[in-house]
Order: sequence, then structure tokens, then C-alpha cells
Amino acid sequence: MSDIKVDISKSEAYITKEDIEAIIPEAAAAQRMLHDKTGAGNDFLGWLELPMNIDQMEIDRIKRCAWKIRSDSEILVVVGIGGSYLGAKAATEFFGASSISRMIKQSPGTPHILFAGNSLSASYHAELLDLLQDRDVSINVISKSGTTTEPALAFRLLKDFMEKKYGKKEAASRIYATTDAKKGALCELAKKEGYHTFVIPDDVGGRYSIFTPVGLLPICTAGINIDKMLEGAQRAVSEYSNDDISNNECARYAMARNILYRKGKVIELLVNYEPSLHYFAEWWKQLFGESEGKDKKGIFPAGVDFTTDLHSMGQYIQDGLRNLFETTLIINEPKRNIKIKADDTDSDGLNYLAGMDLDHINKQAFKGTMLAHLDGGVPQITITIPKQDEYTFGRLIYFFEKACGISGYMLGVNPFDQPGVEEYKKNMFALLGKPGYENRM
Ligand code: PA5
Repeated sequence: MSDIKVDISKSEAYITKEDIEAIIPEAAAAQRMLHDKTGAGNDFLGWLELPMNIDQMEIDRIKRCAWKIRSDSEILVVVGIGGSYLGAKAATEFFGASSISRMIKQSPGTPHILFAGNSLSASYHAELLDLLQDRDVSINVISKSGTTTEPALAFRLLKDFMEKKYGKKEAASRIYATTDAKKGALCELAKKEGYHTFVIPDDVGGRYSIFTPVGLLPICTAGINIDKMLEGAQRAVSEYSNDDISNNECARYAMARNILYRKGKVIELLVNYEPSLHYFAEWWKQLFGESEGKDKKGIFPAGVDFTTDLHSMGQYIQDGLRNLFETTLIINEPKRNIKIKADDTDSDGLNYLAGMDLDHINKQAFKGTMLAHLDGGVPQITITIPKQDEYTFGRLIYFFEKACGISGYMLGVNPFDQPGVEEYKKNMFALLGKPGYENRM
């Protein structure tokens, strides 16, 4: 039995038994295409068995470098964009990097993990450089192509900062480059400057790269147990290889969302009730958006944080255009809980909640919202995970990666390329006067 449970029982009106029976052969064929490597983009399937294939020597080197960063740095700046940062960002937030838990838990020897190069914001980067002035810093620059403008530009600023602060030699010993094994500007620079280098395998795309050094080095540096995370992912590899599609939770999720899509539900909201899942949804959005949104097809993935966004987006979800469905991520056992006490005056009228715990109240908010949104015509998928630990995180990441591969093939697209992301770059380069680009403005 899976510890990650997909529940579609509340959506019987939208996902009928007949719909499921009809679509099972498609999901089975999609899974077979992944396993047999016969589908589009099959040269980017390194992620499929990755948790099983990671070299122990590589893991040991990641741990040694993480240990060095932890012992000589107060801040690790992770420079990357898209798949080169979202996995690490999702993980550090999942394990309590909200400002409050950071303030409580920041133990000596655990550096803050900050991110750069995921925007072109002058204000953000100027403030970051100010913050770094009086602190010990290491940099992990991550770019598979080694040529992406945002991280390359941020790294240019940070490299200059590090060399001024530490001198060239010491700066090089504090810079970790994660990139292609042989090609790209970053690979060349890392070799020339003598940075610590980690390789992103050729057959793993950015958004599927969390179990490579792209994710593992910053995650390990944050003090998160990567062995347990990989153990969870390994379990997921075997569990979701199950050819009995109706008992494969991963395939069940892929089937449910494709059934809904074909009935006009073209927007999927990934809902959470825990602030620490906000960036998990950001990671998920990239995974599904970049994998499926092509050939004029695809479910638009969006994220909402409840109950927060019920006070901003709730109206639309309840009553707006009926082209949405919700997938709610529920954590059975919260990391922490609080009991509500009775109050002598009961001036706020909340004594009816006395004796309950806050997580119970949160879960009733989920159930109440689910019923309301169902009444409003929004189909519901619920994905429940047992708790918020490393093992579960690893399983969940792999769960969505595999579901995305299956779902993309069911949709009839190549889930492993991203040709569309080049378009904005051409115009931006032209406007900035890069030779060889035509300015159309
Ligand atoms: O998933 C992807 O392939 C992309 O989002 C990339 O990760 C992103 O564009 C960054 O690319 P790179 O790592 O080459 O700098």
C-alpha cells in the first residue's frame, strides 16, 4: 500500500468509473513508453532510475562539500533559475525555512540558503550584495547550459564580490559550479578558475534534476538528510513501476487530471494548507507547466495557499469561470500542533473550539472548502502524505515526476523539452543589442 494516497472519490460526477476504465489503456501505454524509452524525448529519461543509480562516491563528495560550506560559511548563495533552483528552494522551505522557523532553529553551523539569478531584479541583487558584505559566504552556481542570462549575470556580480572579499584563490575555494560535464561557458570558467565542480547528467533536464547535485548539494548544506530523501525516492521508483495501473497512485493521478482536462477543466490549482508547501507548488508548476504546455495543449498549473488565498482567490474559485479543478496536498501529521484553550470571557466567541488542536481546525477548513468548491462545480483530487519528513519528500518529488511523464505522454506531447522558453530571450537579446538578434520593437 502506498503512503501517498490519491483520492478522487468526491469527484465521481466528473470522473466516472467508465471514464477511468476507458483511459486505463492510455495510462498503461504511457507508462510503457517511459519504461521502454520509446516515447518522444527519450534521451532525457535519466531521472527515471536516477534515485537507484546515484554513485555513492558522488554522494560522499556532496556531503564533504556541504560540510565544508557549513564549517566556513554563514550564507550559501544558490545561483540558478527554473529547474536549477526550484527543487532546492522547495526542499529548504518544506523543511522549515520560513522566517519564523529559521529564527527558532538556525543552529550554529547551518548556513542560510539564499537564492540569486532567478530574476533580473536590480534591487534584489543590490540588497543581497549588501547583506553579504559582513558575512562569510559560499556560492553554488548552477546552470546546465551554462549560458542562461539570469544566473550568468548574477554570477558575474557575485564572482566579482567574492574575489574582492576573499582574493581570487580563496574565492575559488568557496565557489561550487554545477553544470554540464563538457560544454558551456560555466564549465569552461569553472575549469579555468579551479572551482569545485559537479556534473548534471546529459539525460536529466533541469526540472527533473533535484536528485542530482543540482538539488543535493544545497539541500545537504541546509542540513536536510539526503540519504533519507533518496531512500524515499528509491521506494517510489519501485512502487510506481507497478503495471497494475488502477493500483498505481501515480498513474491514477495522471489519469484523473487528463479525464478532467478532456472535460474542459484546463486549469489545475495545487492547493496547500501549510505555508511551507508554497515553494513545493512553485516546483510543481514548473514541472507540469514546462512539460505539458506545448503544441497548443496542456493543463495550466497554478498554486494557491489556503486558507490564506480563500480570502483573495476564494471568490473566483467558488463562482468564476468553471474551467478549474483542485488538487489538494494534505499532510496527515503536522510537524507541530497547538491546543486551543478555553477563555474565561469568550469575548471572541471561539470557546466552541476549546480543546481542539489547530491542525484539526485546519483540516476541517480543508473539508469545508472542498465541499463548497465541489458545490460550486470544481472537481477535487486529494493527495495525502503521511508527514513532512525527508523520506516522504523524496517519494513525493518522484511521485510527481513520474506522474508528469505519464500525463505528458497521455496528452500527446514531449514532456521533456521546452522549446517555448527560448522565445522571450530572442527579443530581450535584440533589445539589449546582442549581435545576431533582430530588434522588432
Ligand atoms: O527545466 C528546465 O530545463 C529549465 O527550467 C532550466 O532548468 C532553466 O531554464 C535553467 O537552465 P540552465 O540550468 O541551463 O541555466
